[in-house]
Amino acid sequence: MIVNRLIAKNWRNFQHINVPLREQQFIVGPNASGKSNLLDIFRFLRDIVKVDGGGFQKAVKDRGGVSKIRCLSAQSDPEVAIEIHIADSSDAPAIWRYGIGFRQETREDCQTQITHERVWRNDELLLDRPNSDDKEDPDRLTQTALEQSATNAKFRDIGKFLRNVTYLHLVPQFIRYANVIQGKIIEDDPFGQGFLERIAGVHPSTRRSRLKKIEHALKVAVPQLERLEFVRDKNTGHPHLQVHFSHWNSIETGQREDQFSDGMLRLIGLLWSILESDSMVLLEEPELSLNIGIVSQLAPSISRMQRTNRSQVLVSTHSDALLTEQSIDGTEVLMLMPTETETIVKIAWDTKPLRRLLEAGLTVGEVVLSRTAPEHSEHLSLLEWD
Ligand SMILES: Nc1ncnc2c1ncn2[C@@H]1O[C@H](COP(=O)(O)OP(=O)(O)OP(=O)(O)O)[C@@H](O)[C@H]1O
Ligand SMILES: [Mg+2]
Repeated sequence: MIVNRLIAKNWRNFQHINVPLREQQFIVGPNASGKSNLLDIFRFLRDIVKVDGGGFQKAVKDRGGVSKIRCLSAQSDPEVAIEIHIADSSDAPAIWRYGIGFRQETREDCQTQITHERVWRNDELLLDRPNSDDKEDPDRLTQTALEQSATNAKFRDIGKFLRNVTYLHLVPQFIRYANVIQGKIIEDDPFGQGFLERIAGVHPSTRRSRLKKIEHALKVAVPQLERLEFVRDKNTGHPHLQVHFSHWNSIETGQREDQFSDGMLRLIGLLWSILESDSMVLLEEPELSLNIGIVSQLAPSISRMQRTNRSQVLVSTHSDALLTEQSIDGTEVLMLMPTETETIVKIAWDTKPLRRLLEAGLTVGEVVLSRTAPEHSEHLSLLEWD
């Protein structure tokens, strides 16, 4: 299943979002235009349904409360709202629709108040809050029906889907020094600190098959690479990734992840995340540290892997090389365009001048990123620094 429409109101620097989403969706825009904020909508929904220590109140608190989430330029409307449509594919009708709205609480207990929560299955409205129970006991409006097993029986599939959303902004240093900084893993491990443990935790045959696929891809990026394998340290029992290169006399011992290059670690991390997911994978700037030739091949690789898994991949990027692949079409690119008060989100294909260029055969990489560059970026090099 995939989310094939996202609607949001007053979320961070967006006053309104209402866009269709494809199986593979790239998000482009200048720095601070809201790419990470947009991905955070899905992390927020996941946090609500998280099994350990999740819940709506915590998801809001972890983000600094409603005052930090609500769009600073929102007019008089105090509500923040999100709605997602979940379907079998981008062009299929929605099987599920889930909508939630909330506002800053003024009561003493500082609990955030849910203003509405609705669930539809195939257009049938299954839940419509506030309902009579909520009116009788307003405290109920501090928790979503989605997070409570007593109230979500009819729509658990939505929770299951959202629980499996993964976000990755892998920081190679965290993997390299995992043993040194043990025990201080950030919740949900967005930066890949526990990545090796994740690999260790899957069934050996699944692990072997995934690492084999990654090894194939790595051989393209690093031609000297012979083999990628999972090992446990004989003394400590710690999990490690190990590679063997044809050009070093290290065939016997191999090299472990603390010696991998940044690009290699990031590539392994992002390919593993896609292979692992049957839900949605959120990737932040996967192009970092990768050679331009590899970056230009990322989109087709992601698309092939994600098609086999039937997962959805949302990718934030600053890289035109990533978007030069001819097969990426204009509907697969969301453009974030900041104005003085908010950021507008548009599908590249829906922007007439861009559509003409795309129809003329130019790639999205050639036409889209130049449109999202800050107006006076050339001034950066003209600044007086002393
Ligand atoms: N509640 C809010 N209302 C308005 N703007 C907000 C709010 N919360 C955060 N922002 C703004 O969002 C911007 C950061 O957005 P984000 O981190 O998503 O950008 P980005 O596109 O991912 O940038 P980069 O390419 O540098 O990673 C900041 O400028 C911040 O001021
Ligand atoms: Mg960002």
